[in-house]
Amino acid sequence: MVQVAPSLLAADFARLGEAVEIVNRSRASLIHIDVMDGMFVPNISIGFPVIAAINRIAEKPLDVHMMVVDPGRYVGAVRDAGAHLMNVHYEACTHLHRVVSSIHEAGMKAGVTLNPATPVEMLEDIVGDVDMVLLMSVNPGFGGQKFIPNTIRKVERLRSMLERQGSRAVIEIDGGVDLNTAPALIAAGADVLVAGSYVFKAPDPIVAVSDLIDLSE
Ligand code: DX5
Ligand code: ZN
Repeated sequence: MVQVAPSLLAADFARLGEAVEIVNRSRASLIHIDVMDGMFVPNISIGFPVIAAINRIAEKPLDVHMMVVDPGRYVGAVRDAGAHLMNVHYEACTHLHRVVSSIHEAGMKAGVTLNPATPVEMLEDIVGDVDMVLLMSVNPGFGGQKFIPNTIRKVERLRSMLERQGSRAVIEIDGGVDLNTAPALIAAGADVLVAGSYVFKAPDPIVAVSDLIDLSE
């Protein structure tokens, strides 16, 4: 069954605690947290003190998506804030293998993330070392953007690559995921769907999470 990781970026930041409690009560598998530095992406969002506060009340593992330049600088800070999984962008790491190793040495799961224009084939020599590949289905930096359809073909190609290599990495998709875009992603082999606006702008976010999961039944 597909797993869902609600993105807190779409929550009301004045009521962040309530949003975390909602995720706690839902069938979500992870809480997705978007860190932005205003350099790798134009926006600035959540930082380490806020992640640590979320971690104090979260009952689901934290999936921290680092949209920052040179994220290897922050492995210790992300771990200390309570992350279970740290996602770093391929495009932001000069020495990706070293960063992935340091994430593992810090005791976290390691994910590598690709922008929409980066081919999945760039990961041939790292998928054996990562726990997750996160494919961006929008250009990172903002919630509420339109899903880029080419992502479906990328999921299919990535799924074949993982099978060919015997990699156990899970495939996560981030951006514009809703009840319309999720079925093709699931059919193509996506394991985890990040959903921000679709969950937190829904009349009932708990039902919204459930509806996404039920698509794969
Ligand atoms: C975008 C973030 C996403 C964002 C997704 O840069 O990485 O996690 O919250 O938002 P939606 O689901 O609204 O596209
Ligand atoms: Zn994200």
